[in-house]
Formats: sequence, C-alpha cells, structure tokens
Amino acid sequence: MTRKLRSRAWFDNPDNIDMTALYLERYLNFGLSLAELQSGKPIIGIAQTGSDLSPCNRHHLVLAERIREGVREAGGIVLEFPVHPIQETGKRPTAALDRNLAYIALVELIYGYPLDGVVLTTGCDKTTPACLSAAATVNIPSIALSVGPMLNGWHKGERTGSGTIVWKARELLAAGEIDDAGFVKLVASSAPSTGYCNTMGTATTMNSLAEALGMMLPGSAAIPAPYRDRQEVAYLTGKRIVEMVAEDLKPSDIMTRDSFLNAIAVNSAIGGSTNAPIHLAALARHLGVELELKDWQTHGHKVPLLVNMQPAGEFLGEDYYRAGGVPAVVAQLMAQGLIREDAATVNGKTIGENCRGAAIEDNRVIRTFDNPIRKDAGFVVLSGNLFDAAIMKTSVIGDEFRQRYLSDPDDPDAFEGPVIVFDGPEDYHRRIDDPSLGITDRHMLIMRGAGPIGYPGAAEVVNMRPPSYLLTEGVHSLPCIGDGRQSGTSASPSILNASPEAAANGGLALVETGDRLRIDLRRGEVNLLVDEGELQRRRDALEARGGFPYPAAQTPWQEIQRSLVGQLDKGAILEGSEKYQRIDQTMGLP
Ligand code: FES
Ligand code: MG
Repeated sequence: MTRKLRSRAWFDNPDNIDMTALYLERYLNFGLSLAELQSGKPIIGIAQTGSDLSPCNRHHLVLAERIREGVREAGGIVLEFPVHPIQETGKRPTAALDRNLAYIALVELIYGYPLDGVVLTTGCDKTTPACLSAAATVNIPSIALSVGPMLNGWHKGERTGSGTIVWKARELLAAGEIDDAGFVKLVASSAPSTGYCNTMGTATTMNSLAEALGMMLPGSAAIPAPYRDRQEVAYLTGKRIVEMVAEDLKPSDIMTRDSFLNAIAVNSAIGGSTNAPIHLAALARHLGVELELKDWQTHGHKVPLLVNMQPAGEFLGEDYYRAGGVPAVVAQLMAQGLIREDAATVNGKTIGENCRGAAIEDNRVIRTFDNPIRKDAGFVVLSGNLFDAAIMKTSVIGDEFRQRYLSDPDDPDAFEGPVIVFDGPEDYHRRIDDPSLGITDRHMLIMRGAGPIGYPGAAEVVNMRPPSYLLTEGVHSLPCIGDGRQSGTSASPSILNASPEAAANGGLALVETGDRLRIDLRRGEVNLLVDEGELQRRRDALEARGGFPYPAAQTPWQEIQRSLVGQLDKGAILEGSEKYQRIDQTMGLP
C-alpha cells in the first residue's frame, strides 16, 4: 500500500513523536503490540450497534468475531467500539429521536479516532441510516453488514410477522376475540429468534436499500440472522473492508445519485417502508447528493411490487432470502431498464455485474416483472393547503378501502369527507372509542403534533385504527393523515410525513374537527375545503396564542434536537450538519 493511512497520524507520525507515544501507550494497554500498530496495516473499526438494549442488533456481538477473523486474515487490525443503541420498540418516547444522536456521535468516533476503514453493523430501523450517514459524512472506506431478520414467526400454522401481527392482534383484542394473555402470546410468536423484524418493515427495507445503494456485499442484506451464511458473510465483509482501504473506495464513490435512484426503484419493488424517503433524504444530504421527495414519485411510483412479504403480502424474511433477496429483485428491474447498472458497489463491481441474471428461486415470494403483485407500487407525493409535502404508499390500499373511497366512476382517484382531529397519540387513544365523536366510515382521521418537533423525533402513530364499533361493522381502516410517521410494518394507506408539521405551524395546525377535506391522488393534492379568509383568521388566532402548543422536552437531547431538527420531507436531519461533508478529505487529518 503506497498511500499513507490516516491511522499513521496517530501511531506512526515522525512529525509528532510526543503525541504518537501518547496514542500508542494507551492502545497498547490491552495487548496490541507496537509492531502491529506501527506495521502500516489498516486499522478497521467495527461500529458495534448490538447490545442488550438493542435486541434487534444484538447478534452483531457474535458476528463481530467473524468480522474480526476476516479483517485479520486480510491483514488488518480491528478496533471495535459501541454505537449509541437505537431500539425501535424499546425507546421512549420514540426511537426516531435517536437516529440523529447516533449519527452525530458516530461521526465523532469515525473522524476522531485512528480508523482507516469501518464496518457498519446495521439492523433495526434507524441504525442503518444513522451508520450510513455518519460514514458518508466522514467519507472513509466503509462497508455495511446487516444483522439479518429473525426466523419466520408462526402461530397455529400461519406465519406471524413481527411488528405486523400486532395490528391484527389489536383488532382481535378490541373486538374481544382474544384476551390479554392471548394478545401477548400472539404478538410474541412473531419473534422466534435473534435478528430484526422478519416483515418488510423499515429494517428489512433499509438493509435492502443499503445493498441496493451498493454499501453491502451483494446478496447479503436478507440473510436471516441465525443462518450460517450470515456468519460467513460477516467474515467476507471483514476481509473486504481491508481491500477497500487499499483501494481507497469511499462512500462518495459508491452512493451517487444513480445509486439513490436504484434504491428508489428497489423500494417500490420490495414494498418498502414509508420511512425510507426520510432516511434516504437524510443520507443524500449528508453526502451532498441531490435528491428530492418528488424523485420518489418520478422514479418509483410506476415500479411494480414484486416481493410478496408482510405487511403488503404473505411471506417473511426467510422466504425472501431463499427466493433470492435483493439481487433477484434488482435483476428483474434491470431487465426493464429500471436500474442504473454502472453504479459502483463495495465489492468493486457494478450493481449490474453483481445482479445480472440473478434468479428468482421461489416465484411465490418474488414475482417476475410481468406478473407483479401490484402495479404502480411506489409512493405518491402529495401537497396542498394542508401541507407542502407528504407521501402515500398506494400499494397497501386494500379492496375494502378502494371500494369505499375510490369507487366513484366520475372521480375514481379522489374522495372527500369530514375530518376528526387528534392532537398527538395520547389524545387519539383517549378519544377514539368515544361515541360522541360520531365517527362514520366517511370520516378521515388527522393526527397532528406528531412530527420531528412536536413529538420529538416524529412518532409512528399516523395509522389509526377506526373506533371499535366500526371495526365490528367490518370497517378496518379509515383514511389517516398526519405529520408523524407510520411503522413500516403497518399496511395502512395513510398520508404520512406531512411537512411542515403542526408544531412548525404548518397547515395542519389550522385544521379543525368537522372541516371537510379533499384528497385527489391523481393530481397529488390534499386540500382543506375551508376558504382562505377563514384560514387566515385561524392563522392570526394561532399566532396570538404563540403558535401550535406541544409538550415540554423531558431530556436535554429532546430540547437540543428540537431546536435543530428539520422537517420529514428533508430527512429530519439536524439542520446545519449537512455542511460537514467528506470531512476526512476537506478538513485534513488531525
Ligand atoms: Fe427492530 Fe423491527 S423493532 S427491526
Ligand atoms: Mg418502525
């Protein structure tokens, strides 16, 4: 290797022997030798996201051993370190609060310590974008390793998907068909092993997209956590990062606009989560790659759904892997010219070279392009006087919903009706079953105060079940609109991520229960049918009250994040952080 590695500035810097001695002294103290640290071998970080607090990623503690063996065999030295844990289901008030915290801390670690390359151990929803974004900001050679999904869940001979079965279980509980113990048992059946959600939720989505972006070894995103192949690819990932350091193959070489457009197409084909536009927007901004919310509709809407996985379909993670995973999906899209084949990937080959001809091994799970589960599976981007931007995953609109709202032959893509407004999830839970609200199957439900500022981080609460009495009448979903997010494991056709949020005094702050709303999916419009004079009167009143109220912060980080965070359509990053790009190149070594 002829290029001087950045770790030499710490461990072998003749210009600063004083600091070199100090750095060496402490890194020797657990048994590394002087010869190793001054050998010129690359120092490889393992950004460890697994811990007891983050069960979805916990298996990385085991996989790290195989990463180490790969790194060692290829001639590198490992320094493993913890990443701030993010557990989607365990963190209060919401895990989304911590994506930016993990990001900002990981930037400090990768930039501030003697690392020449880094293995990003990805998994649970936000861990993947947090890690990729941090690697992008520093821009040293980086490779991601997915922890992989759990094994399939089963209950009474049927697949139960983690994060998805809970929606069904809630309905059964609300309808009195199961009791509390039955509820817990049913939900727990969906999580039979180590790994992340086995459904096409945000974790499977973001790991699939990390592979589509080129940041993971081909075919590796979908391997279930307990499979032997997962251990093997951990070893291969360790080996590969050492070569990447030698090649100086950096995140900015791999994650180009072409890779993002590939990821958007793949997201439609897999039925990916509505959180993906948020996380890819954040990642693109940290890279300095141009990406707009509109790109999701332009490049993603017409792509069909090929992967038959819960919540949109039937199968789970093991099935997805056995059917061919990401390469099989990419190969189908590539044959239609929907993939930019020259996009680079971590193995040094293009995505075209990696995926061309990748076979579908089970066409019940991954369909061919000409026999899709659904056409036009991507997101529609909406705007109007209620918000500047929001998205809707039209691929999860079910037949019942379609018949109820989208069956007018003169106006097949539009519907209107009165709204019921909830101020945050607590308000919703308190009042949803209150008969005095008079909710009918013509109403739309609005959730506000749930955005990045209002419910700090933005809560996954927009998809709201109808009142119990409507459920028992067979009405399983009402149109939901909100400034929060929706779990990727929910199949509800909600209008999400509305920006600006109510807490930023967007249009949602002005809506009142009883207002009528019109949604036109073809035109991409959502408008309150309230005249501008009345809206202005409400705007003035809101201003006089000091703006849309939201609860006080409970922790220092909540307060800091609130003061800096942007809106969901722009990735909800800490505004200002995007100016620090490729800092290893632009700011020089320490
Ligand atoms: Fe961690 Fe679903 S809760 S992946
Ligand atoms: Mg989630």
